[in-house]
Amino acid sequence: MESSRVLVGRVTDFKKNPTSVITVNSPNGKKTQIATYCIHGQYFALDNTCSHKQALLSDGDIEDLGKTLPESGGYCVRCPKHKYKFSGGLYFSLINGKVFTQTPCNAKAFNPDWSLATYSVEVIQEEVWVYTTPTNGVEPTESHESKFWASITLAKMSRYNHDCIIFSFTVDTYLKIEYPFVQDKKKFKKEFKGRMKLDNYLKQLPYECWHLDFKDSDDTTLREYTPISSWKNLRDNSKLDLLIKLYPEGQMSKILTKAIIGTKFFMGPPKETIPAYFFKDVTNATAYACIAGGTGITPFAQMIKLIEHKLSIGEKAPKLTLLYSNKKEEDILLKEELMEYAKKMGDHLKVIFTLTREDPKNFSEPSPYLFGRVNADLIERFLSPKLHIHIFVSGPEGMWDTLLPLFIEKGYDKFSCTELEA
Ligand SMILES: Cc1cc2nc3c(=O)[nH]c(=O)nc-3n(C[C@H](O)[C@H](O)[C@H](O)COP(=O)(O)OP(=O)(O)OC[C@H]3O[C@@H](n4cnc5c(N)ncnc54)[C@H](O)[C@@H]3O)c2cc1C
Ligand code: FES
Repeated sequence: MESSRVLVGRVTDFKKNPTSVITVNSPNGKKTQIATYCIHGQYFALDNTCSHKQALLSDGDIEDLGKTLPESGGYCVRCPKHKYKFSGGLYFSLINGKVFTQTPCNAKAFNPDWSLATYSVEVIQEEVWVYTTPTNGVEPTESHESKFWASITLAKMSRYNHDCIIFSFTVDTYLKIEYPFVQDKKKFKKEFKGRMKLDNYLKQLPYECWHLDFKDSDDTTLREYTPISSWKNLRDNSKLDLLIKLYPEGQMSKILTKAIIGTKFFMGPPKETIPAYFFKDVTNATAYACIAGGTGITPFAQMIKLIEHKLSIGEKAPKLTLLYSNKKEEDILLKEELMEYAKKMGDHLKVIFTLTREDPKNFSEPSPYLFGRVNADLIERFLSPKLHIHIFVSGPEGMWDTLLPLFIEKGYDKFSCTELEA
């Protein structure tokens, strides 16, 4: 089959801006984003969607890794999203599309086969053309533009603390989007093997643990968020609340800082954060250990609401021990809510706060806080595998890599440890 070609710009355009992104219909019938780069007069084209969490690679830095990683062939683009994960971030070769890390990476979430499609570029009479059939035989990734996106409007902003804001949205478009299992009935059947009917499952939805893709209306930046409002509130009242921490250098943070009431954004279909089977077939002895850092609390807040709901309707639910780490007292999110739930839920919820950048001397005794980072001692004292069958972590980059060896040291096997990204 002859590859079709697409004009991406003129040589003079690349002198002004060395990267150009286009969306094409790829030979596999899907829409794909291709980024074309001009580096020292040489042109390269690569699938623009990171294989890990679909960040747009055209926002990333170009580095020549030819000397340190000869198999990369030279120029690589570093994914801008997770720069510290995977032993220093993911690099995609512009030459052969292969994925590389700076040092060997054993992270469970890493797949060395995450190659991306590369494309030929031709300059014909000062025009730069890209051929849409991959040169390395790798299937093009579906661009996130082809997903179902619901238009949402910023309706309210409530400052939560010094760097977090609750952004409240109303959904403009009719919500055809459905929960993942409802979209994929085969997956539902496989998961529950006849033990639950879809109707009963749907009744539980408002309390499930979910997150979503969120992007600006110019389609420049896509990030994931874990809502603090329920799926039911979205479906029945078209309302969505996100608790978001703003970073001075963050791309989405800058967009949100400039946003005003009425600014349009887009949300993607809901995605499952914690698989439903963690809440099925539990006994009175089922207990999970959880470690949250900063905004990583949001999936656990959903988990706690789900457990509280199950208990309120007389169902069995797991017990949780939550160790929540923050730099300072003022950084703790949802503190009042967590304490209230802990009081209400008795031995089903124990919450321990630890602060890493406070001086214990500034707090009167007895302090409601522990001080210092999560370490082997705290895991032994509060989150031991003798009492918990699984441990979840949701926190900033680096937290998981630091903690996993400590879990193993304390007696967890690696299949009983799960990182929730948030
Ligand atoms: C499944 C999932 C759910 C999430 N839910 C939430 C949520 O409910 N609320 C929320 O606020 N965020 C949440 N996040 C994080 C969110 O997706 C963004 O990564 C975050 O808002 C920063 O985006 P940004 O574009 O502003 O910063 P980026 O442009 O991505 O990052 C730029 C710089 O900002 C700083 N930065 C960014 N993120 C962090 C971090 N986590 N810790 C320390 N420094 C950082 C770093 O200096 C970084 O180099 C979630 C992430 C995932 C994967
Ligand atoms: S999205 Fe690219 S490394 Fe995570």
